[in-house]
Amino acid sequence: MNFAQSLWAPLAAGLLLSIGAVGLGFGVGTDHMEGAKLAARWTSRVGVPVFLTAYLASTLYNLTQNSFTKTILRRRRQWGLAFAWTHSVHLVALSYYLVIAEMPPDLLTILGGGLAYVMIYVMALTSNNWSVRKMGKYWKPIHIFGIHYIWFIYFFTYFGRFADPDLLHIGVIGSGMMLAALAFRLMVRWRKAPKSVKA
Ligand code: HEM
Repeated sequence: MNFAQSLWAPLAAGLLLSIGAVGLGFGVGTDHMEGAKLAARWTSRVGVPVFLTAYLASTLYNLTQNSFTKTILRRRRQWGLAFAWTHSVHLVALSYYLVIAEMPPDLLTILGGGLAYVMIYVMALTSNNWSVRKMGKYWKPIHIFGIHYIWFIYFFTYFGRFADPDLLHIGVIGSGMMLAALAFRLMVRWRKAPKSVKA
């Protein structure tokens, strides 16, 4: 087994992406405040490919079975944990930015984003065989709800970028990617019966 197939590859990718996002944010920002804002923004942005890998792991495998799709499916739990990591870094970065900018978030953001964090950590803590056994029939609906709630917060946040002419292109790309991922998931599901491999 090479490194790309190992348990550590998703976690290493999440670690490098989020450290890179913080470093690049502060490196590119013209002052400390802008650096903190870019770090908050980019720590969420690097979570997108990590999230989509976990979100589409079984879809890709159902569409076509080869060593690449099999590896992604076998490592989907680690991709989920890598996402929990990247978003923990987002939480630290956004908190730092909001504190130094003296910009408390509104109630909708606290409740909507807060529930997303609850779901991220519930899923991270229950992504193991012991929890699957203990939670029985509740495990799957909780994880299906959680992953789609995170999908919704991503979509909603990027959709909100439509209101800012400077960030409109990011809104179009981000919300477009989320819609495409959902459509892809549904299309493959309707076309083919789900397949699984041992995690
Ligand atoms: C209470 C929780 C959260 C708060 C207070 C928060 C706050 C922030 C802040 C301050 C930024 C940077 C703002 C800017 O670019 O001007 C940001 C960016 C962003 N956040 Fe969060 N966030 C939260 C949770 C989440 C969650 C759970 C997700 C996704 C599941 C998310 C997705 C995003 C996205 C997509 C961006 C923009 C990235 C881009 O421009 O590409 N946030 N957030």
